[in-house]
Amino acid sequence: MTDKYYLIQEDAHQERVQLPVKRPVQGPLAVDVTKLYRNQGLFTYDPGFMSTASCESSITYIDGEAGILEYRGYPIEQLAAEADYIEVAYLLLYGELPNGEQLREFDDIITYHTMLNENLKDFFGGFHYDAHPMAIMVGVVGSLSAFYHDSLDINNPRHREISAHRLIAKMPTIAAASYKHNVGEPIIYPDNDLSYCANLLKMMFATPCEPYQAHPIAVQALNLLFILHADHEQNASTSTVRLAGSSQANPFACLAAGIASLWGPAHGGANEAVLNMLTEIGDVSRIDRYIAKAKDKKDPFRLMGFGHRVYKHYDPRANILREMCRTVLEELADSNNPMFELALRLEEIALKDDYFLARKLYPNVDFYSGIIYRALHIPNNMFTVMFAIARTVGWVSHWMEMMSDPLQRIGRPRQVYMGSPRRDFVPLDQR
Ligand code: ACO
Repeated sequence: MTDKYYLIQEDAHQERVQLPVKRPVQGPLAVDVTKLYRNQGLFTYDPGFMSTASCESSITYIDGEAGILEYRGYPIEQLAAEADYIEVAYLLLYGELPNGEQLREFDDIITYHTMLNENLKDFFGGFHYDAHPMAIMVGVVGSLSAFYHDSLDINNPRHREISAHRLIAKMPTIAAASYKHNVGEPIIYPDNDLSYCANLLKMMFATPCEPYQAHPIAVQALNLLFILHADHEQNASTSTVRLAGSSQANPFACLAAGIASLWGPAHGGANEAVLNMLTEIGDVSRIDRYIAKAKDKKDPFRLMGFGHRVYKHYDPRANILREMCRTVLEELADSNNPMFELALRLEEIALKDDYFLARKLYPNVDFYSGIIYRALHIPNNMFTVMFAIARTVGWVSHWMEMMSDPLQRIGRPRQVYMGSPRRDFVPLDQR
């Protein structure tokens, strides 16, 4: 950390304050304001965390201006082309790519934690038949802390690791059971002979009546989607997990909070919203009308799957997914192609439009993920659930990093109070 002088101005009042500066391995310098209030009696004001780094992290690096995303230093393009999701999960969790033996051992651990406590099945039955699967996920993941007491000592690193393994392993089982409840079919148990993604597809689409084998392209596409969604540094849901965890809450409760945050259409819910939007647009001839709506400040409509808080350039994940989208539609060719054509055309028109150019609004990861999910016959209301499964490793990696960080303390932002000044209570009969 180096010290620098920064000028703070307020109306006529000017003061030079010496503040420490953190130098990251990559990315902009960060002015450390932690002692600003104690020493100067000043707060910083940054709603939405536009310029605020909330922690130090060694997991994921993003350069939004250049469209760069790296997990533990490895470019997302290389991981997407070469790696398996479980390998990437190991990398995020432990910081290094596994060797053959480490990978086999990790794969075994995840595989043999996929089953749920049998009593958990009763929870699913308590939900209304048409409950959104994300509502079920929030409830059931939160309830895991009632079942796995043996790994709940958050100050014990081994307990933290076991909880992380359980969450990564059980999330697909919970997700598939949420879906089965929603469609009124019996829950399918995990199959330990299958890979992480093939197992998920089987638990979702098999029935006890017939044999089921997932299409290899579907497994490959899911593996890619999961790698791309595995982590994205301090996004809203990850920050939620960290904030919940900063009060020493247990990891299952923290993950339930993260899932709730992911559900919103401005975050993980965007992939579902993109498909709904493309369905509503319906035809290339109607694109101009929707572009105009997106630009109209009086209209709340936004082009879903466009724009990103960090990327002011093409989201590198969207580039990779556009190609996979083409492959999936060619290999599993069905009536989904018109949706892809519509998306390509919409992207082309938006990227020539001054409104989108001036604001640096490019397609994000979710612009194409929904089309792929639909081609895999995954229903719209499961899109965000798929995202939650993939992001679980990111959430637990950040939670583990935070829990072993000596600088970690409860997250407690301050505020700029704009309410009434002090006043005296007025009795009811005098109001
Ligand atoms: N359509 C139309 N206009 C947009 C869009 C959009 N999708 N996104 C941003 N804008 C406009 C805003 O109206 C604003 O315009 P102004 O400067 O004239 O007021 C400007 O672009 C900047 O937008 P902000 O909302 O300030 O940007 P912010 O960083 O707060 O929001 C967000 C980012 C939430 C992703 C936003 O772009 C959005 O709502 N996009 C659509 C939803 C979406 O795709 N979310 C997925 C994000 S990726 C993920 O979570 C995995």
